[in-house]
Amino acid sequence: MKIFIIALTIVFSSVQAFCQGNNYIQNYKKYDGLALTPPMGWNSWNKFACDVDEKLIKEIADAMVSSGMKAAGYTYINIDDCWHGDRDSLGFIHPDPKRFPSGMKALTDYIHSKGLKMGIYSDAGSQTCGGRPGSRGYEFQDAQCYAKWGIDYLKYDWCNTEGLKAEGAYKTITAALRKAGRPMVLSICEWGNDKPWEWGPQVGHLWRTTGDIYNCFDCIKEHGTWHANGVMKILDMQKGLRQYAGPGHWNDPDMLEVGNGMVVNEDRAHFAMWCMIAAPLIAGNDLRTMSKETLEILTNKEVLAINQDELGIQGLQYSVKDSVETWFKPLKGGDWAVTFLNRSTSAKQITFDWKAEQVLDDLNKLSLNAASTTYNMRNVWTKKDVGTTKKELKANLPAHDVLMFRLTKAGSKK
Ligand code: GLA
Repeated sequence: MKIFIIALTIVFSSVQAFCQGNNYIQNYKKYDGLALTPPMGWNSWNKFACDVDEKLIKEIADAMVSSGMKAAGYTYINIDDCWHGDRDSLGFIHPDPKRFPSGMKALTDYIHSKGLKMGIYSDAGSQTCGGRPGSRGYEFQDAQCYAKWGIDYLKYDWCNTEGLKAEGAYKTITAALRKAGRPMVLSICEWGNDKPWEWGPQVGHLWRTTGDIYNCFDCIKEHGTWHANGVMKILDMQKGLRQYAGPGHWNDPDMLEVGNGMVVNEDRAHFAMWCMIAAPLIAGNDLRTMSKETLEILTNKEVLAINQDELGIQGLQYSVKDSVETWFKPLKGGDWAVTFLNRSTSAKQITFDWKAEQVLDDLNKLSLNAASTTYNMRNVWTKKDVGTTKKELKANLPAHDVLMFRLTKAGSKK
């Protein structure tokens, strides 16, 4: 009898132990409380592609601080594709030892010591777009490495994912990040193929809505089997998506090309529109050598305040007339941002009779009625107060440029 009881106890406790080992419930929900305003930072891809190493990343972090970008709100230093070396015999990933000889933990410590945050890149498939090891089958190990290194942000790409379903693949990496235990922003990068705006808000903090951006105003860059899009083409592809954006979950029209070759008014228009549509602001230029004009665009506090507005409402296109688009964005405290965008290659004379227009943000039940309420107007690029909405606006708008105002109810204290 005694032996029987002992045997039963052993069997019972092994079953119990077995069950305990298998009762971990995956958490497929992103970390809450992150990216409550569109994330701001820098990413290596647009300028440096695969040519990344620890010296560059450290110098960029230094420049982020010394240029005033950090003070303006840019936080993340994100290494994109090609940092990878090989997996070891146990399957753990290591950085390329030639390019990152000090290792990722040391680099992340450096970034953190500057008061910045560190981002890294991987891919849901077998290989990244640049042909480096992807995370497929190694999600939990990779997440563990990122957590150990102190990573704060993961961009997760979609090359070489044959047979995978996007929502499931992104849920897997989210569950892996959860298991690893370190809160990270998850940037979903599946190019808008499988409507990430529908499932992305639960799983990640931002999702690419399109294929890659290219540093031209309105062109298409052919790459054989795929093409990249100029900034206006990308802007056009955001139609119908504003309802999906909000604090903690953003449409991502791709990283900035400001300072990468367009002329200054095009850069300004690009930046202004990314701010109007509450896009993540991830600079993609060489911060070490940028011009004064580029820095002024990227760090204009009044324009940034429109992007970073707490309500997190993506702006709306109000009208299109003769290649001039008018966009509005509701802001905290009853303010509005308005931007006139001239997409034509010639200057335009614009007129806008505020009192005759009825601006309605149907989605948020907000309206701007300048006939009953007068607004003070501030030009956020020149940082000048320029009268009120009582008077019809008449202005000359250069080609590929913007005119951008913040409207505040007259008499309200600011
Ligand atoms: C894809 C992404 C880009 C970049 C590259 C890296 O094209 O969309 O943003 O990350 O891969 O190879």
